[in-house]
Amino acid sequence: MSFAFKHFPAARDDLRADVLAGLAASPKAIPPKYFYDDAGCRLFEAICTQPEYALCRTEQALMAAHLPDIAAAVGDVDCIVEPGAGDCAKVRLLLGALRPSHLAVIDIAGAPLAAAAQGISRDHPELAVTALAMDFLRDLEAAAAWLPAGKRLVYYPGSSIGNFPPESASGLLARFRHLAGAEGRLLVGFDLKKDPQRLHAAYNDAAGITAAFNLNLLTRLNRELDADFDLARFSHYAFYNPVAGRVEMHLVSLADQTVGVAGERFRFALGETLHTEHSYKFRCDEFSALARTAGWQQEGEWVRDGFAVQLFA
Ligand code: AVI
Repeated sequence: MSFAFKHFPAARDDLRADVLAGLAASPKAIPPKYFYDDAGCRLFEAICTQPEYALCRTEQALMAAHLPDIAAAVGDVDCIVEPGAGDCAKVRLLLGALRPSHLAVIDIAGAPLAAAAQGISRDHPELAVTALAMDFLRDLEAAAAWLPAGKRLVYYPGSSIGNFPPESASGLLARFRHLAGAEGRLLVGFDLKKDPQRLHAAYNDAAGITAAFNLNLLTRLNRELDADFDLARFSHYAFYNPVAGRVEMHLVSLADQTVGVAGERFRFALGETLHTEHSYKFRCDEFSALARTAGWQQEGEWVRDGFAVQLFA
């Protein structure tokens, strides 16, 4: 039917400001959204095929198994909105079951998003497809102008919500509430708390793909911020912290060293960590309570092998 692509201004200055602020902080930290340059997107896809990292496969199997049930619980929707849609593979499944008239996909990586959304548009000529290349953490409110009136479903799969600390997750869910509108729904997938050994293995795959994904952040900073990180002097370190209920991912300095980034110098002591990601794990009741703080009421729940999908209104 129609395809629209809108590119919101590049976030290059944000990368510089966020990285310099993160390296000046104590402990040092860089937001995980910066993992996803082209190489990072490819490495994340490879992570999803690792035997130890079952999250993506399990969610896919859950959605396939419960699709008619989920569609019945969601009811009629005019528009599906997926923030962080990536290659748009997950939302394809929902399209056939929910048959909306409009799909809006949002992602920071514009070129792959546009290609994937155009593919959907070709396969579903009856559907109006809008692809918004933006950092939705910054620009989400601007997306509303591109959405039709009517009943909206915000779809946020993949346990991406787990990459935010609880206060930020609640804030993001509240922004989704606003985006969905009064009649709107939210369908969200999240990883459950489980055996810590299983979680540990998922972020320490034997093939070293997660380690490469983590270290690729330094390669990106070397290229885009004229940094001089020596990757051999940093080590991927990920572990499940059961007290905090999250996997923590770090890059640990293997030496006392100074690194240049965007014209500034930063000292790393031997053993000092650069924190790169939190991946929170939930119990079902914890997640629905979190969503309640953002104005959502739970309407449905589907669980499979350590992964859950909940529906909210
Ligand atoms: C995208 N996100 C849900 C993944 C996760 O599990 O937190 C990113 C990831 N990091 C390491 N492995 C996968």
